[in-house]
Amino acid sequence: MNRQRLNIGIIGAGRIGRVHAETLAFRVPEAFPMAVADVNHEAAAAVADRCGIPKVSADYRDVLNDSSIQAVLICSSTATHADLVVEAAAAGKHIFCEKPVDLTLARIDKALAAVSKAGVKLQIGFNRRFDANFARVRQAVASGEVGTPHRLHIISRDPAPPPLAYVKVSGGMFLDMTIHDFDMARFLIGDEVEEVYTAAGVLVDPEIGKAGDVDTAVIVLRFRNGVIGTIDNSRRAVYGYDQRAEVLGDKGSIATANCYPNQATVSTAESVRRDLPLNFFMDRYTESFASEIRAFVEAVAGDKPVPVTGADGRIPVVMGLAARKSYDERRPVRLSEIA
Ligand SMILES: NC(=O)c1ccc[n+]([C@@H]2O[C@H](COP(=O)([O-])OP(=O)(O)OC[C@H]3O[C@@H](n4cnc5c(N)ncnc54)[C@H](O)[C@@H]3O)[C@@H](O)[C@H]2O)c1
Repeated sequence: MNRQRLNIGIIGAGRIGRVHAETLAFRVPEAFPMAVADVNHEAAAAVADRCGIPKVSADYRDVLNDSSIQAVLICSSTATHADLVVEAAAAGKHIFCEKPVDLTLARIDKALAAVSKAGVKLQIGFNRRFDANFARVRQAVASGEVGTPHRLHIISRDPAPPPLAYVKVSGGMFLDMTIHDFDMARFLIGDEVEEVYTAAGVLVDPEIGKAGDVDTAVIVLRFRNGVIGTIDNSRRAVYGYDQRAEVLGDKGSIATANCYPNQATVSTAESVRRDLPLNFFMDRYTESFASEIRAFVEAVAGDKPVPVTGADGRIPVVMGLAARKSYDERRPVRLSEIA
C-alpha cells in the first residue's frame, strides 16, 4: 500500500479486534490495516467492510505469510495468544498482543523467548496505562508531586458479570479482570509487588462459585518500596463501571473519579444528582485503546522501545496466580513462591 505507512494485520475480529481495526482505519494515519483474519470468516469480513481492509481470511497464516505486512495485532481468544506470538515472531512480524499473553507462565516464557530470538517488538494490551486519569496519577507519583507514596487504592468493579461460559474459560477473575489492576498497581507506583493477600468470595452469583471462581475481592499488595496497596474488585456494581484510583504520599494525595457521559447535575428540592457513569470498558476506555495502538505504531515505525513490554505482560500473571493461591490457602503469598 502506501510506503510511508506501517501495514498491519489483525488476527481476531471480535469485540476488541474491531476496536483496534477502527483505530487503525480512522485514527492513525501512519498505519494501514492491510488484512484481517478470524476463524469466523463472517466476523473478519464485517470488520474489513467497515474499516476498508483489503485482505480478509479465515486463516491467520495468510496474515503471517504476507510480506507486505510488518506488524500484527493479536486480538483473538486468550488461549490462542501464546502460539500466535511464537508464530508471528518466527515470521518476523512486530507484535501487539492483547492481555493476557497466556494463563500459564511456561507458555508465556516460550512466547517471550521466541520474541527475543526473532528480535521483533512485542507490546501487551494494558490499555489503562494510556487513560488520561491514570496517566495523571502516574505523573504525580513519578514527579514527586504527592511526595513519597505510602498508599495505593484501586477500585475496579464491573457493571455485571460476564456470561458463565466466559467465566469458565477466562482463567478466573484474578487473571481476567484483576490482571488490569495488577498492571495498574505496578504502573502507578513504579515499583514491584513482593507479596499479596486476598480476601475473596462469591456474593454476586452462586453459579460463578460453582464454576470455581470468585466475584468479589480485596487484594492487599505489599510493594518492595514499602507502599501498601489495595485492590477492590466486584463483578457487579449496579450503578455502572466503577474505575477509580488514589495514591496517598507524604506531600498529599491524588485521586481520580469515574467518567460520565455528561457533566450535568440535576438539582431539585429532594436531591442533587447526576447520571450514571459510563457503563463498561468499551465506552470508558475508548481513548486509551486508540492511544495504545498509536504508541505501538510509533514504537515500530520509529524503532523505539514499546511502552508495555513482554515482562510487563508476565508479571501481572504471576500476581494473579499468587492472588489465587492466597485465596485458596488463606495466607499472604510472596510472588517469589510463584515465579
Ligand atoms: N485490553 C482490554 O481491555 C481487553 C478488552 C476486551 C478483550 N481483551 C482481550 O482480547 C482478547 C479477545 O477478546 P474479545 O472480547 O474480543 O473476544 P471475542 O470472543 O469477541 O473475539 C475473539 C475473536 O477471536 C477469534 N478467534 C479465535 N481463535 C482464532 C484464531 N486461531 N485465529 C483467528 N481468530 C480467532 C474468534 O472467532 C472471535 O471472533 C481476549 O484475550 C481478551 O482478554 C482485552
